[in-house]
Amino acid sequence: MSAEQTAPTRPAPVDMAHHAHLSGVFAPQRQEVDVSDLSVSGEIPDDLQGSYLRNGPNPRFDPIGSYVYPLDGDAMVHRLDIGDGAAHYRNRFVRTPMVVAEEKADHAIWSGLTDGYTPPASEVGPELAGTFRQLPDINVVEHGGRLLAMAESDQPYRLDPADLATIARDDCDGAMAVGSTAHPKLDPETGELVLFNYVLEAPYLTWAVIGRDGQTLRPPTPVDGVDRPLMIHDMALTSRYIVLFLCPLVFDIEALLSGGGLLQWQPDSGTRIALIPRDGSAIGWIDAEPMWVWHFANGFDTPGADTVTVDYVEWTYPGGFADMPTPATSALVRAVLDPARGTIVRTTMGASVNVEFPRVDDRMLTRSHAQVATVGKSDGDSGDLDSLWFHDLSSGSESCWRPGVAIGEPIYLPGTEHDYWGAFGTDPADMSSHFYILPADDPAAGPLATVHMPIRVPAGLHGAWLPGT
Ligand SMILES: [Fe+2]
Repeated sequence: MSAEQTAPTRPAPVDMAHHAHLSGVFAPQRQEVDVSDLSVSGEIPDDLQGSYLRNGPNPRFDPIGSYVYPLDGDAMVHRLDIGDGAAHYRNRFVRTPMVVAEEKADHAIWSGLTDGYTPPASEVGPELAGTFRQLPDINVVEHGGRLLAMAESDQPYRLDPADLATIARDDCDGAMAVGSTAHPKLDPETGELVLFNYVLEAPYLTWAVIGRDGQTLRPPTPVDGVDRPLMIHDMALTSRYIVLFLCPLVFDIEALLSGGGLLQWQPDSGTRIALIPRDGSAIGWIDAEPMWVWHFANGFDTPGADTVTVDYVEWTYPGGFADMPTPATSALVRAVLDPARGTIVRTTMGASVNVEFPRVDDRMLTRSHAQVATVGKSDGDSGDLDSLWFHDLSSGSESCWRPGVAIGEPIYLPGTEHDYWGAFGTDPADMSSHFYILPADDPAAGPLATVHMPIRVPAGLHGAWLPGT
């Protein structure tokens, strides 16, 4: 029997119209444009100079087989340049070998992550046969002279900052030789980029450090004491520690092979918290209740105490990856971790519920921050993210801005005289997209400027502000 005869059948198209993350404000954008001097309502502050970059899942062609948001898709990076009171826009796909091959064929060749289909050599050649789609579609990071489109757990793709053209897959001088998750953390004090990665085989979990100039300071280093593969999306960084929450979302290949899901929620295992000293000394472990964490806002060594404080969004369980009788709910939580005693004290901050995408002023990473912004859903677990919450940690007050559109992750925008928050939003009524610039000292007052985007910017995921000079 020839290889041609044994090649698996290409999966059927995904029903995009009925897929929540392939339709409406999440529908993929296929246009790539360069547009200068965007139309603006209000006035862009004169003291704001820089570029906002945002990455997100955006399948190049209508997907086949399966589509699991936010992991599947191809990557599209959007860049909004702001300066001298004006705004300019460019967007580009990240051109992985899969995207390039599909553009030649003019249709999707690779399927989603969960159906196990891979294309045969007769269709894509021997080098790409049997491969899975590369997915550098979660986040965008600039560090050490590299602009990187980050995947959930893989090597990133390096982009040309001048035109967003795809340069190549990049192992970052070996620090990402085994891959990286999408949320490495930059220490503004040392200039180091600290990262971790998880894989399905032992040692399951590693961490690494890249120096200010892009050279590897610590190659991938196993986290001792991990005995199974877990999904861990984000980390917190303090001056002394990497903080990882090992929540009980387990990769289970046997379950997948017997028809179950690849990810299994096993709350009986509880959550283990690793405090990994950045100096390489012994890891401290803390046991906690089962919870799920997608994202941390920040972490810092508690001033005047030998403890560590982390602010994060805590979920009751990972909605979408676990079948539970009640909807998953979330809240902004502060946890004080005591490595010596092995204790955790958690406090819910504010009254906001069902929030996500916590961000701080990135200049305050590893240090005590003043404000956390999150995105919330007014209608509980259903509907689009539609509100921005601002949590003032010194006063304990909380304010909310509801733009009347689907809104994305907030980004802190430092100006030379004032600071701002920004976010992309899309009006589901007419599918027009906008970038809102809010005053950081009173964001609930609404935007100082609304930049009208020339094309729709699909909802989700993460972005970064690159200050201009
Ligand atoms: Fe994320």
